[in-house]
Amino acid sequence: MRSLVTLSFLLGQLLLTVPLATAITVNANDLNSLKSAAETAAASAVNYYNNRESKLIPGKFDGTWWEGGAFFTFLINYWHWTGDSQYNDLVTTGLSWQGGEDNDFFPSNYSSYLGNDDQEFWTLAALTAVEQKFPDNPGHPSWLELAQGAFNDFVNRWETDKASCGGGLRWQLYPTLAGYDSKNAISNGAFFQIAARLARYTSNQTYADWAETVWDWSMTTPLFDNKTWTIYDMTRISKDCKDQDNMQWSYNYGSYVTGAAYMYNYTKGDTKWKDGVDGLLNTIWYTFFPQQYGGSILDEVACDPILTCNRDQVCFKGLMANWLSTIALIVPYTYSTIIAKLDGSAVAAGLQCSGPDSACGMQWFNSTYDGTSAIEQEMSALSIFSNTLVGFTSKNAHSSYTPPSPAAPVTADTGGNSTNNPTGGQSTSGYHPPKLPAITAGDRAGAAILTLVFSCAWIGMMVWLVVGGAY
Ligand SMILES: *[C@@H]1O[C@H](CO)[C@@H](O)[C@H](O)[C@H]1NC(C)=O
Ligand SMILES: *[C@@H]1O[C@H](CO)[C@@H](O)[C@H](O)[C@H]1NC(C)=O
Ligand SMILES: *[C@@H]1O[C@H](CO)[C@@H](O)[C@H](O)[C@H]1NC(C)=O
Ligand SMILES: *[C@@H]1O[C@H](CO)[C@@H](O)[C@H](O)[C@H]1NC(C)=O
Ligand SMILES: *[C@@H]1O[C@H](CO)[C@@H](O)[C@H](O)[C@H]1NC(C)=O
Ligand SMILES: *[C@@H]1O[C@H](CO)[C@@H](O)[C@H](O)[C@H]1NC(C)=O
Repeated sequence: MRSLVTLSFLLGQLLLTVPLATAITVNANDLNSLKSAAETAAASAVNYYNNRESKLIPGKFDGTWWEGGAFFTFLINYWHWTGDSQYNDLVTTGLSWQGGEDNDFFPSNYSSYLGNDDQEFWTLAALTAVEQKFPDNPGHPSWLELAQGAFNDFVNRWETDKASCGGGLRWQLYPTLAGYDSKNAISNGAFFQIAARLARYTSNQTYADWAETVWDWSMTTPLFDNKTWTIYDMTRISKDCKDQDNMQWSYNYGSYVTGAAYMYNYTKGDTKWKDGVDGLLNTIWYTFFPQQYGGSILDEVACDPILTCNRDQVCFKGLMANWLSTIALIVPYTYSTIIAKLDGSAVAAGLQCSGPDSACGMQWFNSTYDGTSAIEQEMSALSIFSNTLVGFTSKNAHSSYTPPSPAAPVTADTGGNSTNNPTGGQSTSGYHPPKLPAITAGDRAGAAILTLVFSCAWIGMMVWLVVGGAY
């Protein structure tokens, strides 16, 4: 993912004059207010999408690739919870298109600068399609096969040698990119979640074994402290995975806690996974739902309050809303706690959606519009409004609403019918890993220079906002 505060964003901040506008009124106990809020945010996000410069390439956003995966995840959730299918064709076309030549979400147009995390967010979108019974695209690889193809790539990239920290996925795939020296939480947390979801859906134990391997390895590094249930952003191979970046990002927690929830469900309640779910949720509540705003409003604490979230980071609250609604269903004892947090966040997000034409800002904790606007703000708003509808699987629903059945993610045994292909990841048959360039001496020197630049940058954590590297 890219970490650049774009010029247009800054200009937007400076030039925007805020006209009076009304917020999106959300009453969490009124089904229709949530549905209509979701409808408004979906229309607005899709409007941005339809008017982008790269609109002739299905699924490709301007200046970023991974966000298409998050966008389609939220639109699938929107369809799942509201039944409104008007965007389904747009999702089907884009999600298939970006499966790429080898059916593993590693299209050659972009593969030379994609990181593991970029590929993972598309894989998670495909898994959402599988689990929410979003119909496969006839004549194209199934959503499940695309996810399995990407999974096979991650397995292929997993390092076990001691010099590479005895396990883990790197952030970036090429020595010339700054993130090549790091093993980061999102790359490994999302791989863990992908493996856990494949395990639960297919009941294939190989996936469960992989999930356990990633989880256990993470705890041998500073990325994951299982005494305090704290997740740090990254660690460096050149430091033998002994250092850490202390930034606290909600998506790192969300990726691991959701994987643990799937493993909890798959193992029918194993305490190893229950401890993980409880421990991480607890940290999520006190870190990302600050007491100062009442404890039930989601806040990307490292950047929302000071309005420095870059476009990637603005999406994180949307990812978390999607993950929490899922956990509420597959770890049923968390349900009422989670619904309260989603309800509070949806109401707060509605108040923040009070820019021109109900544009949404990023500061959900602030009842005054913060003056920012972009597709990412609309995407996160879309996700919180749609995913909060999970509360109506138990609340006294409006008579006109029938929750999706089943509401929880399905498996191959409970109604899922996406076509299985464990050897996915190739245009014909049989898995072949994508070719990455061989590492040359020049690349190593380049990586060393970047490492040096990195070391200097390490001092100031906020420097991460401008170093970047991913896409
Ligand atoms: C790759 O780029 C070409 C040329 O712009 C475009 O036609 C094609 O749709 C792109 N493929 C993907 C998967 O984005
Ligand atoms: C924490 O991780 C260590 C491995 O680093 C493991 O031995 C221990 O069992 C874990 N504890 C919990 C509570 O998961
Ligand atoms: C797993 O999820 C299902 C919903 O799909 C739920 O009914 C079941 O109780 C969960 N299992 C456990 C052990 O909580
Ligand atoms: C809420 O946003 C308004 C408008 O940008 C700003 O003036 C105010 O300081 C913000 N409040 C907080 C608590 O950040
Ligand atoms: C899977 O089920 C959906 C309906 O839920 C249906 O539209 C689709 O044709 C089915 N696909 C296959 C391969 O059976
Ligand atoms: C289970 O998954 C593994 C890993 O992809 C694969 O090699 C194996 O064939 C799968 N087994 C079945 C029964 O599908």
